[in-house]
Amino acid sequence: MAAQHSVGGAFLSSVFQEIHRRLALTRYYRNYYDEEVAKKLEITLSSINEVLDDAETKQYQNPDVKKWLDDLQHEVYELEQLLDLISTDALQRKGTVQRFVSGFIKRSPYKVLLQRLQFLAGQKDILRLQKEATRDNHVWENLSTTRSLVDESSIYGRYHEKEEIIHFLVANSDNDNQVSIISILGLGGMGKTTLAQLVFNDHRMTEQFEIKAWADVSESFDLVGLTQSILWSFQSFQSHNEDFFFEQAFHNEDLEILQHQLQQCLTGKRYLLVLDDIWSKDGNMWEHLLLPFSRGSSRGKVIVTTRDKEVASIMGSTRLLHLKQLEESDSWSLFVKDAFLGRNVVEYPNLELIGKKIVEKCGGMPLALKTLGIILQTKLSQSEWVEILETDWWHLPKSNSNINSILRLSYLNLPSNVKRCFAYCSIFPKGYEFDKGELIKLWMADGLLKCWGRHNSEEELGNEFFNHLVSISFFQQSVMPTRAGKYYFIMHNIVNDLAKSVSGESRLRIEGDNVQDIPERTRH
Ligand SMILES: Nc1ncnc2c1ncn2[C@@H]1O[C@H](COP(=O)(O)OP(=O)(O)OP(=O)(O)O)[C@@H](O)[C@H]1O
Ligand SMILES: [Mg+2]
Repeated sequence: MAAQHSVGGAFLSSVFQEIHRRLALTRYYRNYYDEEVAKKLEITLSSINEVLDDAETKQYQNPDVKKWLDDLQHEVYELEQLLDLISTDALQRKGTVQRFVSGFIKRSPYKVLLQRLQFLAGQKDILRLQKEATRDNHVWENLSTTRSLVDESSIYGRYHEKEEIIHFLVANSDNDNQVSIISILGLGGMGKTTLAQLVFNDHRMTEQFEIKAWADVSESFDLVGLTQSILWSFQSFQSHNEDFFFEQAFHNEDLEILQHQLQQCLTGKRYLLVLDDIWSKDGNMWEHLLLPFSRGSSRGKVIVTTRDKEVASIMGSTRLLHLKQLEESDSWSLFVKDAFLGRNVVEYPNLELIGKKIVEKCGGMPLALKTLGIILQTKLSQSEWVEILETDWWHLPKSNSNINSILRLSYLNLPSNVKRCFAYCSIFPKGYEFDKGELIKLWMADGLLKCWGRHNSEEELGNEFFNHLVSISFFQQSVMPTRAGKYYFIMHNIVNDLAKSVSGESRLRIEGDNVQDIPERTRH
């Protein structure tokens, strides 16, 4: 996995720690050191650091706070660059030539940066940014780290929808030469993927279809890559020799050959294919992709999930299932399971009443119900529940409508070190599969696990943070194991949007080997 360095608003606090350390080091580079300026810088940064958590929370309602954070991030990067320059120069100078840069650095940019940071520190009072209590340790110790893997017993409702899809799948198609597609349409977080999973794993599907495949499509649509995944998924379903077929499918980039192999694999077989989370409206591409499925006598069925009705129609869906909100009683059960976590609801009549209102606000959206339930798990006082009920996250400005406001609330409840680790994941493109161990290493390399060296090693801490992000569904385990039976993790699209939003304006993305979307102020 090739990752690029990414720093954003949520990282600022850990960046500050690193700056403190490096500022202290400049003491040894005497030609560059100005004690008075360095001291003032440290004091200024400390005073800003105290209000960072509050600023991060308030930036969503107050554009001035957001701008303040962006400006701060910019100045901090300037400072980091300056420190880079100093250490490089100081090392090169060892025993060789004194470069003019030393005097220049000492006199001017340091002071200019100090002035700008002092100006920002002065603004924190005008913006009413407050110190937050040292909540990190407290919150972290109270968090449950149990993993919430999706299993059937934790799914509520959807019985009729599931039966409707299965009925479609087992029925004979009217037109044998055309692939039959059923599209599950619905809002982000409404449970489309979950429903498709329920169907995919149902025992009747094993009886009905000889081979099955699951492909995560997501926003980036690549004809060859998707054909490779589908081919590999079908082949490994058939023989379980994943390594062999992985090499075969992914080594070949010739679409015609891939399609031919796919067609051979499907010939004479009853197959089921799930294309999860389709965004692309490129009709020609879809026609091309589906060629091997419609050639000859087609005995297969395809399930598509999408947020967009137009996509469903471009795909040529035979049937459309509009996934609506969960029923009231199912919504309540889903919420109670997480919010009360095995406790008896009737013993908390005051919370039950507020809980019912919270559930009403979630509008039957499973993702919202689950997220809020998890947040409330650790809160047992009436005032905390009322705070969640009355919180204003529900009415965000239009510009943020893509990012689920409820998830943002979940993010804000994270301890700041976990926040930074999560924000780091903004480097991943949508639908990107990542490995747990590798991500923890990246966090470590970026120094995100450093300041927690209490009883845990960095790796153990990374493990705890990762598991917590899984337990609140920010990370989800992939549906199919990859080769060698390993499971990878992905972020829900809305969660990915959230990571990009909280990581601030400076961010990089991995896209193959290309780095995209680099805003003007991005450094490194
Ligand atoms: N019926 C249900 N009961 C319990 N939990 C559910 C149910 N449906 C969905 N969930 C949970 O809600 C979350 C969102 O569901 P899911 O990923 O299926 O949504 P989606 O509609 O596919 O979203 P997107 O459009 O972003 O892909 C998941 O954590 C899932 O486990
Ligand atoms: Mg989905």
